[in-house]
Amino acid sequence: FIPNIVLNDQSTMPALGFGTYMLNGSAGVASIVSAIKAGYRMLDSAFKYENEGTLGKSIVESGVSREELYIISKLPGRHHRYAEALYTIEESLYRMRLDYFDLYLIHWPIPRLGLYVEAWQALIEAKKRGLIRSIGVCNFLPEHLQKLIDETGVTPVTNQVELHPYFPQQKLRDWHKEHGIVTQSWSPLGRASKVLQEPVIKEISEKYGKTVPQVILRWHTQLDAVPLPKSTSYDRQIENLSIFDFELTPEDIAAICSLAKPDGRRQDRHPALHEEF
Ligand code: A2P
Repeated sequence: FIPNIVLNDQSTMPALGFGTYMLNGSAGVASIVSAIKAGYRMLDSAFKYENEGTLGKSIVESGVSREELYIISKLPGRHHRYAEALYTIEESLYRMRLDYFDLYLIHWPIPRLGLYVEAWQALIEAKKRGLIRSIGVCNFLPEHLQKLIDETGVTPVTNQVELHPYFPQQKLRDWHKEHGIVTQSWSPLGRASKVLQEPVIKEISEKYGKTVPQVILRWHTQLDAVPLPKSTSYDRQIENLSIFDFELTPEDIAAICSLAKPDGRRQDRHPALHEEF
């Protein structure tokens, strides 16, 4: 059972979703169908993941009706121009075999291009046309969010950012809360980092009879962030979903937040990938 949260455009979104980065082709279809069968309803994709077709196929194979699902995709940087953005959204829908996205995001602001406001105007138009139900962004800093709000009067429903115990994004989350923006967490388990071995989290997990990943994902939801874990394994997909039957104390949450590092972003990624996609 996954609860829903309410967004600033009055629509609702599941409090936890499934990440699909690197899930491609027939193996990708198997993992995504498995996740839908496990109970995930929100599926997060992107043009740049080159798996919109894979996701579309998985939705058909799952047998779950479109209305029960919450589908996300993202606009790549090279299509920030107004006309290209609208064209890209139509193309992505075609690849996914869908009539609309529940949520569509600008993948990166890429400030040096100076086009993210133009891209935002295209998302606003696509929403008016009924191609998208809710619109948001990823990897934006407060200054970028403020510019969107100032120049269009439309606040994103969400900002999807890197967030895990080494990079808890306290300041950004506070800014989001002040402005009614929901934080979504990518790489919620801090993939390829040592976070799953942290003794502090292990101790907390033993107290509740839960696993370390379950405690980390519960920590996200209790920070009011929406985690998008990815797993290829059915058992781990189920594990990552089973987090709404216990509650961390404020002390547990603070202890996990104290694992923050000065630059806790995933260091396995090329620095350029922090800037654009
Ligand atoms: P796998 O697909 O073999 O389960 P993130 O979402 O932070 O990017 O992390 C994704 C990575 O974490 C994947 O490599 C995935 O491996 C692994 N992972 C996901 N869930 C779990 C879990 N419950 N326990 C251990 N590893 C997990």
